[in-house]
Amino acid sequence: MSTLTSEILTNFDVEKLREDFPVLKQQIHGKPLVYLDSAATAQKPYAVIDAIRRFHEVDCANIHRGVHELSQRSTAAYEQTRTRARQFLNAASDAEIVFVRGTTEGVNLVASSWGHRHLKAGDEIVISAMEHHSNIVPWQMLCEARDARLRVIPMNDRGELILEEYEKLLNPRTRMVAVAHISNALGTVNPVAEMIAMAHRAGALALIDGAQAAPHLQVDVRALDADFYAFSGHKTLGPTGIGILYGKQALLENMPPYQGGGDMIRTVTFEKTTYADLPYKFEAGTPNIAGGIGLGAALEYIGGIGIERIAAWEHELLRYGTEQLERIPGLRIIGTAREKAAVISFVIEGIHPHDIGTVLDLEGIAVRTGHHCAQPVMDRFHVPATTRASLAFYNTFAEIDKLVAGIYKVKEVFA
Ligand code: ALA
Repeated sequence: MSTLTSEILTNFDVEKLREDFPVLKQQIHGKPLVYLDSAATAQKPYAVIDAIRRFHEVDCANIHRGVHELSQRSTAAYEQTRTRARQFLNAASDAEIVFVRGTTEGVNLVASSWGHRHLKAGDEIVISAMEHHSNIVPWQMLCEARDARLRVIPMNDRGELILEEYEKLLNPRTRMVAVAHISNALGTVNPVAEMIAMAHRAGALALIDGAQAAPHLQVDVRALDADFYAFSGHKTLGPTGIGILYGKQALLENMPPYQGGGDMIRTVTFEKTTYADLPYKFEAGTPNIAGGIGLGAALEYIGGIGIERIAAWEHELLRYGTEQLERIPGLRIIGTAREKAAVISFVIEGIHPHDIGTVLDLEGIAVRTGHHCAQPVMDRFHVPATTRASLAFYNTFAEIDKLVAGIYKVKEVFA
């Protein structure tokens, strides 16, 4: 056991942290809520809720537009989140941090802006077999529009990408490799540093979908050498409707705006518009100011705990949960990669995941059931759907025990 793991098991005060999350204090169907759906959206601490409330109660104004005090305060608070996000990702400059609605919009922005300027007929985009629909469909749409080809890295039965096959897909026509850092459906942590290096050797760029990684592990875009990296605020303890797209400055400079409107211009006449500098060129219209401020509070809160400590606690929960679930007769875990994070997807012989989810809900246990917006993953494992328990640092070992008891209840009901 590593020093960090034993320190975490002794000192991580999960009960104290849980006090920060009001939503966790309730009963569902007369049972204490066991929230195991953080991959869908994470719960929000008071720090985030209070920051959003404070913005509306005290500072509310539009940003980048007013000389008055409220606008100055709102602008400063919003821009402070950009700086926090830059530090969170270890990006080189605030100019490389673009506010978007979430990971989906981040991927769409790159596919649309970079793709329409740089992709030609016959070019190739490489994605992987474990992508969320948001990292499939935008590339598919781009490939259709450009007469380009979408290629897919296969995975093995554990849910690990096969790097030898990936190597074979790379060729001088490859322009972009777009892969998830962590699979939302399987929990696999992909070796993205290695995959990015391979893409670069082939002359391609790499975009990483960090939606499931940003809340769970240390991300360093410069160490990874990622060209683009996107994550969502709401999975990272922040509000919905806000997210971050990181892009290397030289690449962003060489991309046209994604949307036109206010705030992204330098000058406008009916003959010609010139655009604002980075990152504002990509931020048309009044943004989600409250969301941005809430995300800043979320990143600060995470920093206060320490992402390494979060990762270590979740790792122990995952290890314990996997051990316990593997013992249940008829239960099969989908996604058994050697490098995994925070997600346990499973099926139970003869019981539909929606029935599992419904019975667990009656026990106060929230899990996600379905295809998890990753239908090709379900096809690969020949299942229509799974039940997914996804963990966060505010979960406890006792909650895993409740999940196990809930699953035995499901089996009893459907015996
Ligand atoms: N992408 C989110 C999930 O995995 C919604 O549940």
